[in-house]
Amino acid sequence: MSTLTLAQNNLERKGFLDLDVDPTLDLVQEINRLKREKNAVILAHYYQDADIQDIADYIGDSLGLSQKAAATDADIIVFAGVHFMAETAKMLSPHKKVLLPDLKAGCSLADSCPAPVFREFKKKYPGHVVVSYINCTAELKTLTDICCTSTNALHIINSIPEDQPIIFAPDINLGKFLVQKTGRDMVLWNGACMVHEIFSHEKIVKLRQRHPDAKFIAHPECEPHILEMADYVGSTTGLLKYTISDAATEYIVATESGILHQMQKASPHKTFIPAPPDNACACNDCPHMKLNTLEKLYLCMEYEQPEIILPQWIIDDGRACIDRMLDISAKAGLVGG
Ligand code: 13P
Ligand code: SF4
Repeated sequence: MSTLTLAQNNLERKGFLDLDVDPTLDLVQEINRLKREKNAVILAHYYQDADIQDIADYIGDSLGLSQKAAATDADIIVFAGVHFMAETAKMLSPHKKVLLPDLKAGCSLADSCPAPVFREFKKKYPGHVVVSYINCTAELKTLTDICCTSTNALHIINSIPEDQPIIFAPDINLGKFLVQKTGRDMVLWNGACMVHEIFSHEKIVKLRQRHPDAKFIAHPECEPHILEMADYVGSTTGLLKYTISDAATEYIVATESGILHQMQKASPHKTFIPAPPDNACACNDCPHMKLNTLEKLYLCMEYEQPEIILPQWIIDDGRACIDRMLDISAKAGLVGG
């Protein structure tokens, strides 16, 4: 049984997930009180709901969140994000308590690359360096030489000598984008994110016809035929910065809809339109990210559960690839947003 399933079972036995929160409680006040009393820091990804972003101590992309997790002097890290992000924080700060409001907040991209299958795949390519997108399991990180995020991926690939063959996992779309940008012929694992694979080319073309002055911006986890149309491709932080510095006043945004909150806050006079997906509900929410709620955030801080527990061998073998990424990023002055 995986560490995730074990921990989840223990919590369900205790009935923790069924606890009702007193509806008269001022959750924002309570969460702020718990932060002070427990010396806890709340790190939130841009894809969280607006109310969670607004109460977080730090909101950022995957690189910025890892840099904060490595540097914090808080006793407790509360990770408002998904499982692989909280695992990364635990690997970087193994002596701290790391909490995730809902342990079921996983990631379809991380799930698309099971470590035992990847171990066999890797054997077919001796002499290859493995670069893994940070959106992967802790166990996959034990099979990885260097991690990367969407902010530093291009830089990480360019830091590897040109004659060194590379396997890139698990995101095939980011992999193809990097192959195109660097001209490197990398071996790509065939994984993808369920949110970024859903955008409809046809609907985006029609939307652009209705908004001829709008810029179309996209995250590199989107498929190549979507990225080809984009005026700008970048990480969540890259997209946010672009909308701040660019002169346009209207943007069609192809990534998870949570980022629109910070875009709107930073540029209240601009209009942000979520790119339409190829489904009936017309929403770009990540079902994993959106499992976290203010109530669960409060409960996890009050009871200090669910806690991320990793076997020592995973921390020992998995951390080096994250440290390498942070070192290369620091030397290049790359800081996540
Ligand atoms: P970044 O945070 O690197 O932009 O990646 C987004 C993402 O997929 C997080 O799940
Ligand atoms: Fe994973 Fe995609 Fe959700 Fe990010 S948006 S957590 S990559 S499923």
